[in-house]
Amino acid sequence: MPCLQSRVEHGQLYSKHSVSRSVPAVLLILTLNWLSKRWGYLSPIRVRAGSFSFTMVVNPSHIKTILRSSRILTNRPMMVFVMEKWFYTPKESLHFYAAHDPHTSRPGEKPEHIHDFQAKISIKYLSGTYLLAMSERYLAILKTRLLKLDIPSDGWTEIPDFYLWLQSQVTPSVIEAMMGSQILELYPGIVGDFWEFDRQIGNYSRGLPRWMIPSAYTTRDRLLANIKAWNTLANRESDRTQHGQEGPEWDKFFGTKFIKAREDSLRTHGMDDNAIASENLGLLFGSNANAVRAVFWYIFESFKDLDLQESLRAELKDCLKPETDDFDVPKFSNKPLLQSTYAEVLRLRVATTMTRTNEDANFKLGPDYTVDKNMTMTIFSSITAHNREAWENMRPESVTKPLDEFWPERFIVQKSNKDARFSVEGLTECWMPYGGGQRMCPGRHFAKNEIIGTLGLLLELFECELVDLQQAEQVKPDKRWEPYGTLPPTKKVAVRLRRRAE
Ligand code: HEM
Repeated sequence: MPCLQSRVEHGQLYSKHSVSRSVPAVLLILTLNWLSKRWGYLSPIRVRAGSFSFTMVVNPSHIKTILRSSRILTNRPMMVFVMEKWFYTPKESLHFYAAHDPHTSRPGEKPEHIHDFQAKISIKYLSGTYLLAMSERYLAILKTRLLKLDIPSDGWTEIPDFYLWLQSQVTPSVIEAMMGSQILELYPGIVGDFWEFDRQIGNYSRGLPRWMIPSAYTTRDRLLANIKAWNTLANRESDRTQHGQEGPEWDKFFGTKFIKAREDSLRTHGMDDNAIASENLGLLFGSNANAVRAVFWYIFESFKDLDLQESLRAELKDCLKPETDDFDVPKFSNKPLLQSTYAEVLRLRVATTMTRTNEDANFKLGPDYTVDKNMTMTIFSSITAHNREAWENMRPESVTKPLDEFWPERFIVQKSNKDARFSVEGLTECWMPYGGGQRMCPGRHFAKNEIIGTLGLLLELFECELVDLQQAEQVKPDKRWEPYGTLPPTKKVAVRLRRRAE
């Protein structure tokens, strides 16, 4: 979100309160958060951030209207911004994202363009049997990797920076499961470069020139050049059209049918090698940045609270296939605490932004508010996550403990009897780590399997301890990252691992 100088007008266009000030990005979100708490979650808030203007929507009924209007709203302006500034799509290819021709679509509907095709492919190949195959492959690859580590059972091995360590284990496993193993062989530096790129997202957003952040540009250039080389090799050695019934479920060059289908569609639409490299960098980011940080918080919470860890471990044991000792992944979705803890981690640690724009006409949010044509409407997941009134209206028992607190059982219904189950029902406008509506994150099912499964593998293979519990209590989510996604930890967390003897 590009916001160096910002002007906040609470309901200026819409109601009586008005605030105006210049603030950096993080302060802007904190200010908006404070405003929502101070004035309530009723009217939209108009914000000017540098050259960018948007309307922040906080009222659940307005959010509902937006989610129900997926057919006429688009996230194109944000998409163009992100593709250009973050993933460096060449200028001559930006029209793929920016093109808007209302005459080619049915009246009242947004036209389909390349991004819509990509979205359909993601939804198809990140669900059902494809999802199961990719989740199982991820867990198998990660398990092999963890088994190879030199961590003995007769003494503790200390890991000084657990977040960094997780990146080095989880990211290559996700890449291999999704995009094949060849890319890792061709470009062994991909994991380090990717996380360096991730650290620079704020600088790319601000549009800082190359001379101010030369190494950020060099890292991204290296990522794009290597991704392009991999893509050329994969097209030479494999067949991108084999994403139907025919062809293998996975091959080392393209990985899954998901990647082949994306590649096939991008080529069919006439994208060139450089633009496709940017698309693939985008996917690398989408599939790793938020998820790996979420994996960290999920595991970290279970290391801090040993009772919680024991209960999670009991549910995880129930999910093992008796014959192989591998996880029966669909069983994760029957376990109340595993899922509720996951949802609570995402509620408190994810700070994503969902943007929607009506490019063709003014947009009626409700009887009292109309948003101008082309004005982007923005929903911040970290703000909806704290709207007590909405949570209370929808699910009174979910606010038994304050929303500022981490409460792993928040999403469990029927806590008192044996039929306890996990549910996010009724919370569509409150629990929004994955956005919502038609454009809701298609990778959410994989992310959930990845988050729960990674904890499962660690606890199955190792005894795990925090080195210093008191120090760990001081580790918080780094708010400076709002609103880019899952927040990283403010400090290093040291952990000890010992391989389980049995
Ligand atoms: C905790 C982990 C994750 C979080 C919090 C997250 C969050 C999001 C959000 C907020 C969006 C925009 C949704 C909207 O505008 O309504 C999104 C889009 C997307 N995500 Fe995720 N995501 C996660 C993991 C993943 C994973 C693991 C993948 C891939 C395997 C993935 C693939 C995508 C793709 C392809 C899109 C673009 C969809 C489109 O524009 O049509 N995400 N994600």
